[in-house]
Amino acid sequence: MTTMQSPTMLNPAVLTPVNPAIEDYMRSLTSRTDHPVLTEMEVVAEKNNFPIVGRLVGVFLETLAKTINAQRIFEFGSGYGYSAYWFAKAVGADGQVICSDGDPFNKEKAERYLGSADLSGRVDFRIGLAQEIFAQTQGSFDICYNDVDKGDYPQVWQMAKDRIRPGGLYIADNVLWHGRVAVENYVDIVPGWTEAILEHNQRIFNDPEFDAFINPTRDGVIVARKRM
Ligand SMILES: C[S@@+](CC[C@H](N)C(=O)[O-])C[C@H]1O[C@@H](n2cnc3c(N)ncnc32)[C@H](O)[C@@H]1O
Repeated sequence: MTTMQSPTMLNPAVLTPVNPAIEDYMRSLTSRTDHPVLTEMEVVAEKNNFPIVGRLVGVFLETLAKTINAQRIFEFGSGYGYSAYWFAKAVGADGQVICSDGDPFNKEKAERYLGSADLSGRVDFRIGLAQEIFAQTQGSFDICYNDVDKGDYPQVWQMAKDRIRPGGLYIADNVLWHGRVAVENYVDIVPGWTEAILEHNQRIFNDPEFDAFINPTRDGVIVARKRM
């Protein structure tokens, strides 16, 4: 006898939020000429299975940053600078993107890539625990962007939210976690990460100081705007 699974019991691997054909179409619209280093970074990610945000989310980040005229951005978890490339373009020559990552080799690579795109003057790349680096900074940010290990998401939200200027944005990647947030019997890659993302998302949507929305592109990007 075959038993029907309820929709909420599906294997999360099948829960691709946006149909891949639709994402392909959207990606085809963003294949404008950009600096060749961008393609190089994408090829490296593909080859080494490194989780960059990719072209669709990159364009989204740049658009958001330009929309609010962002000048100062903090990135929690910068990898080798792919998402920072988009933010650095958006902030302009007088803007600043503070990057953070635990891996010193990522800093080396980021500086090389961003340097060849003439963006390194806008980027201050620091090595260490992102939360500690953030705590050492002063002042407010136009955008705090979170892409660290998922178990750290609630903590990062908690520390970032008070340092975002009114009208500024909190953005985090992977908030749909390949569908695990929507199923009951998910298999966690790292124990506790899905729980942490669920808690993170709930806290943001419950926060009276922010208006939030999840863009389901790729793995889900949450955007929360601090009220004026
Ligand atoms: C998903 S990747 C970042 C990708 C990058 N945002 C992009 O799209 O190009 C996550 C990175 O965060 C770093 N990382 C994870 N947790 C961290 C933490 N708590 N502090 C500092 N770095 C962290 C990892 O070394 C990894 O390079």
